[in-house]
Amino acid sequence: MNIEDINTRLEKAPIIPLIQADDPAIAVRTTEALIAGGLTVIEVVLRTEAALHCLTEIAKACPKAIVGAGTVLSEKLVNDSARAGAQFIVSPGLDKDVVAAARHHGLPIYPGVATASEVQLAWNLGLRTVKFFPAGLAGGPKMIQTLSSVFKDLHFMPTGGVTAENLGGYLDLPSVIACGGSWLTPKSAILSGNFEEITRLAKAAIAIAKKTRK
Ligand code: 3PG
Repeated sequence: MNIEDINTRLEKAPIIPLIQADDPAIAVRTTEALIAGGLTVIEVVLRTEAALHCLTEIAKACPKAIVGAGTVLSEKLVNDSARAGAQFIVSPGLDKDVVAAARHHGLPIYPGVATASEVQLAWNLGLRTVKFFPAGLAGGPKMIQTLSSVFKDLHFMPTGGVTAENLGGYLDLPSVIACGGSWLTPKSAILSGNFEEITRLAKAAIAIAKKTRK
């Protein structure tokens, strides 16, 4: 899997739902609900004990999905994610050792940036697609637009504070490859077993993307 393959998939449905799970069976059920709604690039955040196990089970049970690891803070976590079957790596910040480790495993890496200096560092590391985090607090669509006027060949993946309400404002920008977020996998729906709600949210997000990018 290379970054172009993932980016091609994101062109059709430019949204990456985040899954934070304690239970692999629930993580798989959540992924199935997202796939039913048309979202197939999924990020499992490494913020629970069971996250890597959840990732492995999703990769096994959901071959239609491209599953990555998020909140990858260290080289060790890159290695663990690769072993667990992650197909891409996302980190909240920019760390050259994490970037190098992901490249060592041949895994696409989307490191987080929030300032022009970080974007420039990422650019000089040869990266051309970065996460923009935390998108809402770091300046939202206006900040991306301004950064894009300088870094013309860079694509952004805004995450952090993205919702169905502001999704269109991000996707309106040609430099935004996709938006990531947890609004598609609300705890309340998962806890109550309401996976139809997750499918509904995924479909609604795709409808916004289609309207914005027609
Ligand atoms: C991330 O890990 O990218 C963010 O915590 C997601 O932010 P959100 O919960 O506002 O979508």
